[in-house]
Amino acid sequence: MEKEDVIILAVETSCDETAAAVVKNGREVCSNIISSQIALHTIYGGVVPEIASRKHIEKINQVIDEALKSAGFTLKDITAIAVTYGPGLVGALLVGVSAAKAISLAAGIPLIGVHHIEGHISANYIENKELEPPFICLVVSGGHSHLVVVKDYGKYEILGRTRDDAAGEAFDKVARAIGLGYPGGPKIDKVAKEGNPEAIHFPRAKVDDSVYDFSFSGLKSAVLNYLNSCEMKGIPISQADVAASFQKAVVDVLVEHSMNAVQEYGLHKFAIAGGVASNSCLREALVKACAEKGVEFFYPSPILCTDNAAMIGAAGYYEYCQGIRHGYDLNAHPNLRLGERA
Ligand code: KG4
Ligand code: ZN
Repeated sequence: MEKEDVIILAVETSCDETAAAVVKNGREVCSNIISSQIALHTIYGGVVPEIASRKHIEKINQVIDEALKSAGFTLKDITAIAVTYGPGLVGALLVGVSAAKAISLAAGIPLIGVHHIEGHISANYIENKELEPPFICLVVSGGHSHLVVVKDYGKYEILGRTRDDAAGEAFDKVARAIGLGYPGGPKIDKVAKEGNPEAIHFPRAKVDDSVYDFSFSGLKSAVLNYLNSCEMKGIPISQADVAASFQKAVVDVLVEHSMNAVQEYGLHKFAIAGGVASNSCLREALVKACAEKGVEFFYPSPILCTDNAAMIGAAGYYEYCQGIRHGYDLNAHPNLRLGERA
């Protein structure tokens, strides 16, 4: 270890993954431990906030210990501790924030609060060592759909956001409606490979007063209406065709808005982030669209797209370099907006 290396211990508990990681100089992942609660929530068809908080409490110390151990470090080697403090489920966030505050105080290392979406965007820095702002990023997760200009590290201009459901939320709701269960995104992605994306025409929603905002609730209703009407007429539904046609409708809108932004802002670098960014159809469509426009396309590996702490370590590193430190009054902020600091 070089003396000037910045080693960040990162913690993420905003939803249903208890995660800790050790990240060196912002881009080198020394360990990335994720304890998923998916199996626990599956029986309820979605994340139950109270269960998530309780499970985080059970797991957090063990996950942090494992992250340090598998990186071959002790707390003495850690430069700073970074933790997601919003947005997310308040009880879940509080577990990570409290653990990070305790470690910071006990080990005498600085505390850095990280915005969860900023973490998702920063996942792109880990495997793309040459990626530097400015670039356009499409953030599509279970709770958020944002199209942003990453102007600099920690500096964002939001071009568009969803007016209703987030992209991942739409995947989860449609998956439930066609009997695939939770979590819907990966299941639709898999089943859709067997289906015909042109089989059913679902709407590509436009938002009247914004070319960059998204709206997915109309699409979700169109799928539900289609299912009801098939049921009433006694027509059997093809899970694979519904999944493929729905997925294509989401992907078409995401790609169109993204390429409009790339064109208008004249930036030749484009990245994706968030759980839905691991969708194979979206990745393929964006590879093609970016190649056609001569735009360099960056995307994290699927494991760095869904919730993890390595991305929080990457974002925390750039905050550390900018001199950002938090006090022990750091709290969980369930509705923290991108670019906002608390
Ligand atoms: O970023 P993430 O792990 O958590 C949030 O911050 O919300 O995103 C989770 C979302 C879920 O809605 C999940 O269904 C979706 O990402 N997702 C996918 C895929 N993998 C995860 N959606 C579509 N295709 C996938 N392969
Ligand atoms: Zn997330």
